[in-house]
Amino acid sequence: MSDLYCVFGNPIAHSKSPAIHAAFASVSGQDLIYEARLAPIDGFKQAIAEFVAAGGKGANVTVPFKEEAFRLATRLSERAARAGAVNTLAFNGAEIFGDNTDGAGLVRDIAHNLGFSLAGKRILLLGAGGASRGVIAPLLANKPASLFIANRSADKAVMLAQAFSDIATVDAGNFAKTAGKSFDLVINATSASLSGESLPLPAGIFAPGSLAYDMMYGKGETPFLALAREQGAAQRADGLGMLVEQAAEAFFVWRGVRPVTAQVLAELRAKLAG
Ligand code: ATR
Repeated sequence: MSDLYCVFGNPIAHSKSPAIHAAFASVSGQDLIYEARLAPIDGFKQAIAEFVAAGGKGANVTVPFKEEAFRLATRLSERAARAGAVNTLAFNGAEIFGDNTDGAGLVRDIAHNLGFSLAGKRILLLGAGGASRGVIAPLLANKPASLFIANRSADKAVMLAQAFSDIATVDAGNFAKTAGKSFDLVINATSASLSGESLPLPAGIFAPGSLAYDMMYGKGETPFLALAREQGAAQRADGLGMLVEQAAEAFFVWRGVRPVTAQVLAELRAKLAG
């Protein structure tokens, strides 16, 4: 019988994860089934219990259950502990192992797919919520020259920077505090574009040759990437590559096999544009 995996979320109907993992299974010759499952907002724990009882080997977790998955895990990877959130669960007997592959996925997309080396770079991270928190330690592990966290509410950015102060000195403040500075990499980890709002970024933050990276993606250019283009960011990328790479990292956690991602990403890109 094929091993069973799934993604839990609410909503979940439009998740691309089943298609991504089916493609990974196919390219890597792994025998598995991967489903999308809707968990009730107040029924995540129960949904996990039922999935495990049905023989489920592992699960991805998406909005709004990543913090609950973190609390449910009986053992955490170091990167999940740092992130305060779990997007990948592996079930082994009574153990629920919680991992977080989002940061690794982001770094892999930037460094490998986009060929942009993080070492020595000045990074600006926009947003101080869960999405931002999940990628900070993996970014710092690549030894950037500096990291600045900017957020609408400055106090949340400052608290987040403090939470990582044992790894590196991280600057923080509101968007206005980035005025007069310039960055080689600007990452949007806010959810502003979900409400159609654009970010009040000062002019001049994009250094020559800089990369603007939006963790969001959609059909066409995101509002943040449009702004980045207008402000002269040399290279721009949305989060579709991160989506595929965090999935590849989860696949590796479960199967011990790293699937080739280029073809899967190209196909998703074509579908999104079409
Ligand atoms: P996620 O898990 O996606 O990070 P979150 O934890 O709710 O979600 O965090 C959302 C982030 O987007 C926060 O940094 C939030 O800023 P505040 O902390 O000031 O609320 C940011 N955000 C959401 N809407 C925004 C907007 N219209 N303009 C600027 N920042 C916004």
